[in-house]
Amino acid sequence: MTLSENIVPKKGTELELEIQALAFGARGIARINDMVCFVDDTLPGQTVLARISRKKKKYCEARLLRILKQSDQYIPPLCRHVNGCGGCSLQHFNYSSQLAAKEEQVSDLVQRIGGLTDFTMLPILPAEEQFHYRNKMEFSFAPERWLDVDEISSNAEFNKNGHYLGMHAKGFFEKVVDLQECYLADPIVAEIVKHIREVAAQSGLPAYGSRAQKGFWRFLIVRKCLNTTDLMVNVVTREYNEKIARLVTREMTARFPQITSLLLGTTTSLGGVAFCETETLLYGRSTVYEQLGKYRFEISANSFFQTNTHQAERLYDTIIEFANFSRNENVYDLYCGAGTISIYISGLVRRVTGFESVESAIKDANNNCVLNNVENCRFIAGDLKDLIRNIPAVLESCGEPDVMIIDPPRGGMHPDTVQAVLKLLPQRIVHVSCNPASLARDLAILCEQEYRLVKVKPVDMFPHTAHVEVVALLERKS
Ligand SMILES: C[S@@+](CC[C@H](N)C(=O)[O-])C[C@H]1O[C@@H](n2cnc3c(N)ncnc32)[C@H](O)[C@@H]1O
Repeated sequence: MTLSENIVPKKGTELELEIQALAFGARGIARINDMVCFVDDTLPGQTVLARISRKKKKYCEARLLRILKQSDQYIPPLCRHVNGCGGCSLQHFNYSSQLAAKEEQVSDLVQRIGGLTDFTMLPILPAEEQFHYRNKMEFSFAPERWLDVDEISSNAEFNKNGHYLGMHAKGFFEKVVDLQECYLADPIVAEIVKHIREVAAQSGLPAYGSRAQKGFWRFLIVRKCLNTTDLMVNVVTREYNEKIARLVTREMTARFPQITSLLLGTTTSLGGVAFCETETLLYGRSTVYEQLGKYRFEISANSFFQTNTHQAERLYDTIIEFANFSRNENVYDLYCGAGTISIYISGLVRRVTGFESVESAIKDANNNCVLNNVENCRFIAGDLKDLIRNIPAVLESCGEPDVMIIDPPRGGMHPDTVQAVLKLLPQRIVHVSCNPASLARDLAILCEQEYRLVKVKPVDMFPHTAHVEVVALLERKS
């Protein structure tokens, strides 16, 4: 059915749609009369045939059936996995269009969810490297693999008890795209994936299936540093097995002499998060070193570290520019990870206190101060909402904050943490976020009474993916 003025969208209706923009999460936006319709896997400028899959009061969702007219912003993707893999959802959208779309999404979310309009929206900071920029990749094992359309139509061989290893296929938590190449990471990463997959297949132990919640081989995490030559390979299994530890050590060190850290981690968690409960060092050091600007950082397997090394330096320079520090200022670094921001800014301020929940990251942060001869940073471990609940104790221990840097995980700040920030009342807040929707929600509360949003700058840390990082500056109203 062709789109006409009078169509009332209903579930199951097939219609022709013109994709006009790209929403956060890389979903195409079309309009049916006055209603917004989200169509996954589409690009602005395309005309598509789609079927309505969900109808709500204010919007609807449609599933793409066929592209009728290609967008002039389309470019052929490099990677063979682009259709199934959840990694690069925008590799077929030219880079300048990706940047424009991300900038518009951030501006729209801050205004629409945050209800904030009186601020300066600065242009997005593009990434200098659009491929091979990630220093860390996580892959999951699965007994089933995702098949692309050609494989399905040719009835490709498919073993339901295989050893498949790669990213989770879009929309299938049980299946992975069996990775052969990846343009986000250094090419050695795909070689490591292929080799460890063979090792697992020969081991006689099964890959973990998330539906059955059974199996041995769980995850592979590779950190390939960009400003140093360090390479960490962390193979994660359900439990420790001495025979497998010996097999992995022998195979990986023989095939990849450039490995500087080889670990066997274990996790009993049922979820899909590659966080290790135990770690056994099989070869080399238990940490890797990466360099940001003039500082060197030691990173252990479980610690957060910005995944795009070169763009992280530019992100941190943006934080410095926004904060406009003076030498005598006292800074709190909330959600500080391995202390990278604290240390990066340490030479510009009097004192920094970092807060972080992961103990090993705090250990790294302290080691990193020693490594860099930094003496004015201190780190506190624990859940932030508990750490800063007792305001008088925090003020006594850490001093009144002049500036706060807040860089929470995707979900944003816990409401109790937002309230604590509103009691601690630093003069300036530099809010960094990898999720503009939760950022906008938190900004709205901070700006209700005490703060004014001054400026917002998106930073493209993750070309070809739907993700965008944002830096926002808030100043106290009085
Ligand atoms: C986006 S990362 C920021 C890391 C750091 N600012 C950097 O640039 O490397 C968020 C950090 O918050 C930590 N985190 C998550 N939830 C937390 C909580 N409730 N309390 C304290 N830290 C938390 C995570 O472990 C992670 O290190």
